[in-house]
Amino acid sequence: MFSSERLTVRRFRAADAPAFAAYRSEPDVAHYQSWSAPFPDADARRLVAEFATDDPRQPGWFQYAVELRATGELVGDVAVGLHENLRQADLGFTVAPAHQRRGYAREAVTAVLGHLFTERGLLRVAAECDARNTASAALLAALGFRREGLRREHTLLKGEWTDDLLFGLLAREWPG
Ligand SMILES: CC(C)(COP(=O)(O)OP(=O)(O)OC[C@H]1O[C@@H](n2cnc3c(N)ncnc32)[C@H](O)[C@@H]1OP(=O)(O)O)[C@@H](O)C(=O)NCCC(=O)NCCS
Repeated sequence: MFSSERLTVRRFRAADAPAFAAYRSEPDVAHYQSWSAPFPDADARRLVAEFATDDPRQPGWFQYAVELRATGELVGDVAVGLHENLRQADLGFTVAPAHQRRGYAREAVTAVLGHLFTERGLLRVAAECDARNTASAALLAALGFRREGLRREHTLLKGEWTDDLLFGLLAREWPG
């Protein structure tokens, strides 16, 4: 759907299911997320089939696939949860461990934010992460998100009440 220097950010397709199941099955990827590793292949196929037909302009979550332009490999995903008002959204992201720390999350999320703020007219994008998820919090800060709060013991994650960090970015703060 759109490209950056090294990446294509596009709709999911059925053939992505094995790679999607593989990186969701990595313990480090699942650690602060709602699912547990290993991630079943059947769940991956079902979810990818849903992602493939979802409408990114309707309220609710839309999951973008992030593909390496050089090889066509699926390296992760960016999720956008559009609010009913169509002017605000929540954001999520994952990059497969073998591809982390190469700037792919920064590049993919930058492409998605550019699309949301400049082409779709969104006013605000928010994100939250487990307070222990230093990679996610650092990525959001590096992208220009402001830390807006900490919800203490707000989420029951894998049997534990965990703190959530809250982040927000306004369109007028977006340098792109
Ligand atoms: C968070 C995540 C998407 C980052 O992906 P990535 O492609 O490795 O991130 P990038 O290479 O684009 O990093 C961009 C910036 O984010 C920060 N960052 C990313 N990973 C970091 C880490 N492990 N520790 C500290 N800072 C980190 C750095 O500021 C980095 O810039 P730098 O490399 O110039 O220092 C990845 O670690 C991931 O998928 N984690 C597991 C899933 C998850 O928890 N998702 C978030 C749920 S809220």
